[in-house]
Amino acid sequence: MYKVTSEIYGETDYSSIKGDNGRVLSKFKFKYPTEDENVVIQNDTLVDKDGDLIVKRKGASTRDGVITIEHSEATELRLVGLQVWRGALLLADYIFHKRNEFRDKFILELGAGVGLTSIAAALYAQQVVCTDVNVGGILDLIRENVKHNSNLVKNNNIDVLELDFLKPIQEYSAALLKAIDDCDIVVAADVIYDDDLTNAFIRIIDVFFERGRLSGKNKTVLIALEKRYVFTLTDLDTTAPMFEYFLKQTINKPWVFEYIETNSFPQYFEYDRSRHLVLIKVTQGK
Ligand SMILES: C[S@@+](CC[C@H](N)C(=O)[O-])C[C@H]1O[C@@H](n2cnc3c(N)ncnc32)[C@H](O)[C@@H]1O
Repeated sequence: MYKVTSEIYGETDYSSIKGDNGRVLSKFKFKYPTEDENVVIQNDTLVDKDGDLIVKRKGASTRDGVITIEHSEATELRLVGLQVWRGALLLADYIFHKRNEFRDKFILELGAGVGLTSIAAALYAQQVVCTDVNVGGILDLIRENVKHNSNLVKNNNIDVLELDFLKPIQEYSAALLKAIDDCDIVVAADVIYDDDLTNAFIRIIDVFFERGRLSGKNKTVLIALEKRYVFTLTDLDTTAPMFEYFLKQTINKPWVFEYIETNSFPQYFEYDRSRHLVLIKVTQGK
């Protein structure tokens, strides 16, 4: 059977230990943000908001943390959620950077995979609901991963619920509908990789916006993705077809897109922040 592997395992050492169940336990190390940081990365260098170089002082406190995640290292396409993808780490970085804006917020993650971004969000947000389609035991795996990180997620602020983009909303549970109505920020990493799924994801975002409009609790959606370039015979060029499909399908939506420069916020987690990563903030236009 054809299997896919997330690139990140070959680029960074996550001290992965093989378990008996074929999965691995990996350590995703991060630096806790410091309150005086006001820094951005420019040409791989840390600079302050005036553009001055930041020299790390000896002994400067940069506290380390670890999110421990059980995951697969290779899966068939149907079960890619059992792996960790680069967008999850980019989104976690952005949440750490914007932690003060997340403190009183209710976050709902779509297509959460093994739950890394939701766990990162739970360090700062008031409440997190971590969702995915329940295939391959993914929801139980997220619950296990929440337990692995109970030292970080101290106030028990993560719930795990099934949300299948392909299911009609009429079949959603009452708990899920309540979470949709209550959430302020929706986050999704690397969920745009298949035309049908992308259409269903767009439909779900419309549902979130519509329910937000009716309840008066407007939603902000943060989408992280990695542009995957391929040479296509149709275009006779190298394109990122899934990203372009997403843009094409949303072009006539009353959505406001804001592209967040990925070098405008620090990197707290260890991974290769590829220049093909994209972070988009979507809100509903008037
Ligand atoms: C490439 S993985 C990304 C996982 C995780 N967000 C990350 O970045 O590591 C795509 C995610 O979309 C989820 N997904 C696939 N089909 C779905 C569906 N019908 N409804 C909701 N999520 C779905 C997968 O289970 C998986 O978690």
